[in-house]
Amino acid sequence: MRVLVTGGAGYIGSHTVLQLLQEGLQVSVIDNFSNSSPESLRRVVGIAGQNLDAYQIDLLDTSRLTQAVCEIKPDAVIHFAGLKAVGESVSQPLKYYKNNVVGTLNLLEAMDEAECRTIVFSSSATVYGDSTDLPLRENTPRNATNPYGRTKLHIEEMLEELAASDSRWRIANLRYFNPVGAHESGLIGEDPQGIPNNLMPFVAQVAIGKRTEVQVFGGDYSTADGTGVRDYIHVLDLAAGHLAALDYLSNAQGVHVWNLGSGAGSSVLEVIDAFARISGRSVPYQITDRRPGDVAESYAHPEKARLDLGWKAERGLEQMVEDMWRWQSKNPDGFPEVAMEFLHQDELALFISGNQKLPSTD
Ligand code: NAD
Ligand code: UD1
Repeated sequence: MRVLVTGGAGYIGSHTVLQLLQEGLQVSVIDNFSNSSPESLRRVVGIAGQNLDAYQIDLLDTSRLTQAVCEIKPDAVIHFAGLKAVGESVSQPLKYYKNNVVGTLNLLEAMDEAECRTIVFSSSATVYGDSTDLPLRENTPRNATNPYGRTKLHIEEMLEELAASDSRWRIANLRYFNPVGAHESGLIGEDPQGIPNNLMPFVAQVAIGKRTEVQVFGGDYSTADGTGVRDYIHVLDLAAGHLAALDYLSNAQGVHVWNLGSGAGSSVLEVIDAFARISGRSVPYQITDRRPGDVAESYAHPEKARLDLGWKAERGLEQMVEDMWRWQSKNPDGFPEVAMEFLHQDELALFISGNQKLPSTD
């Protein structure tokens, strides 16, 4: 079976590509590397010892995209490619609608042309907006509160309409809660550009000494310690959810929606505490104003994924922080500038061989 992974060089994509290769599946990646580096893929094939081919293509480039998807002839697509910064989506909404919504539309058309109609889509718990009806269930009404969230909502609706119009489509909308952590080798992980928007990478950069202190956005929420509570999920558990969804779709047409979360919440102070303890570093923080648009608490009702997919989050907060810290301390500046010469390139594809020399894991 050949799986096309869009955005496969990114944070969640690279961990998922690794698991697909480890399961013996053939993998092709399409990525424009706008928020990632081919170095992540080089490391993935090194860990797996399996080859993959990667295409440096933008989903907005319809002719190269269609040519590549028809050349790859995938049996299924896992679609991660998208922009994800909430603040940027507020200041540049059209960039988000174009990249995420139009990009997905182009991908679906290319898939149709290539006769591939199975897709696993990266949706987000952001589609529950500011709902306070906890835990969040798949049938909790959707309500996006910013352009990024609205792109996810529009894409979910587009996929529902597509499946209603043509029963050959098999679609999974996976609503991720808060992905964190890294592969246990410390070779791949999240590599945010500039100042991290999300809590865990920010805390990691404070622990390593790149930033001075964490700003805790609000200490007066009606939670146990007054700080925001989120459902953190290890990226390897998340990746496993994609393989389970693919498996499910092999026997199921139509659209299926699953929350991928642990069902439990951790507060900002619990995260900071765990990081300080596990890293042995000090993590100074200061409680400041609430971040506009934040909710006090968000966590999943994870039962549907357990019942349908036999999937549940296995790794707890300690493991998430331990793995995140290993990645951060081995790669304080993220992935290095990539040496493209390790790639053999023809007109469209880059072939990355499983025989890659990896950085030391000591
Ligand atoms: P990421 O930025 O690390 O990965 C996205 C990848 O897509 C990058 O490699 C980027 O270069 C690529 N890309 C973006 N636009 C593209 C385009 N037009 N053409 C080709 N490639 C393009 O992000 P991630 O954290 O791995 O997230 C993956 C997906 O999951 C995204 O769709 C994101 O919205 C969704 N998601 C992420 C989170 C999270 O907190 N990380 C939570 C919920 C949902
Ligand atoms: C963010 C996104 C959301 C996305 C989700 C999962 C925003 C506004 N929302 O939400 O769309 O689906 O990630 O990736 O970006 N915090 C601090 N200090 C910081 C950063 C965060 O105190 O420097 C707090 C927040 O107030 C929140 C918690 O930490 O209580 C987690 O924040 P974050 O990692 O940004 O995730 P979400 O707010 O859940």
